[in-house]
Formats: sequence, structure tokens, C-alpha cells
Amino acid sequence: MPSYTWTTANAAETRAAAAELARRLPRRGVVQLTGNLGAGKTTLVAGLVEALGVAPAAAVTSPTFSLIHEYGEPVRVYHIDLYRLDEEREIFTLGLEEIFEANALVLMEWGEKFSRFMPGDRIVITIEHGSGDERRITATGDRLLIRTSPE
Ligand SMILES: Nc1ncnc2c1ncn2[C@@H]1O[C@H](COP(=O)(O)OP(=O)(O)OP(=O)(O)O)[C@@H](O)[C@H]1O
Ligand SMILES: [Mg+2]
Repeated sequence: MPSYTWTTANAAETRAAAAELARRLPRRGVVQLTGNLGAGKTTLVAGLVEALGVAPAAAVTSPTFSLIHEYGEPVRVYHIDLYRLDEEREIFTLGLEEIFEANALVLMEWGEKFSRFMPGDRIVITIEHGSGDERRITATGDRLLIRTSPE
């Protein structure tokens, strides 16, 4: 299974890693971002959204309360945070099933709380804390694109 790893020393480096990751992401499907509170999931999403040409990184805020943020062009992106969701039935009121079927890239924080609802072919990104501000970012999934051309 394709897997890529980056080690970053600050938030800007994580956004730069996101720009490299963006070249290996399909433009539709579900990406589950896993990591502790403050690991840098939203920071990585901001970098992805910017690298995809959808919005400046500074315009990306955490969907902690609204749960879903949607970005339109040129790639349809959903940024979802299930941290505050407790009940499985709320998954359905959110309309996640329709979102998963959409022609869109779905970037999901805290999706592991509801693993059995997550598509089996999702890409998983884990962000682990190192010492201080260091983070180790690993992206794994059969749907990651393998780029053989020079970058
Ligand atoms: N190497 C790094 N990569 C990413 N963020 C870093 C790094 N070093 C420090 N930070 C800081 O860590 C914080 C990460 O916050 P962020 O909101 O991205 O985390 P999160 O994983 O989305 O948290 P939550 O689970 O609360 O949504 C930011 O304040 C960011 O500036
Ligand atoms: Mg977050």
C-alpha cells in the first residue's frame, strides 16, 4: 500500500508537507486525519486547501462547532470535524452518507470515533507529536497516487 511520511518542525512546514501530499491525493474520496488534540490536523487541511487552489490557508478555520465546512472550486472539498459528535444517529442528520457519495474530497478530523461509518477505501493520515513542535505525518492508502515524474 502506498505510504508517505514527513517530519515537520513547525506549522509552516506542515503546510508545505500538505502541498506535497496534495500532489498524491485523488480529487475525490475520504481522507481520515488522526492525531491528538492540537496535533496539526486543521493545519494540514489548511495547507491542502491552499495547495489545491481552493482557498488561502488563512481562510481555513476549524469546523469544531459547525462540524462541516465546504469549499467549492476548482476542487469540491469538505472539511469535517466529528470531535463534538457523540451519537451515531447524528451521523445521519449530518448527511455524511451523501457527502461520501459526492464527487468531492472529504477531509475528516476525528472520523475514527465512528470508524464503522468510514469508507473502507479511505486514505488515513496520522500526525504524531515528536519532541517540542516536531510532528511526524504519515499518509497511507491504496488510493494515494504514485508519482514517478520529477516534481
Ligand atoms: N509541526 C507542526 N505542525 C502543525 N502544527 C504545529 C506544529 N508545531 C506547532 N504547531 C501548532 O500546533 C497547533 C495545531 O493546531 P490544529 O488546530 O491544526 O490541531 P488539530 O489537530 O486540528 O486539533 P483539534 O483536534 O483540536 O482539531 C497550531 O497552533 C500550530 O501552530
Ligand atoms: Mg482540528
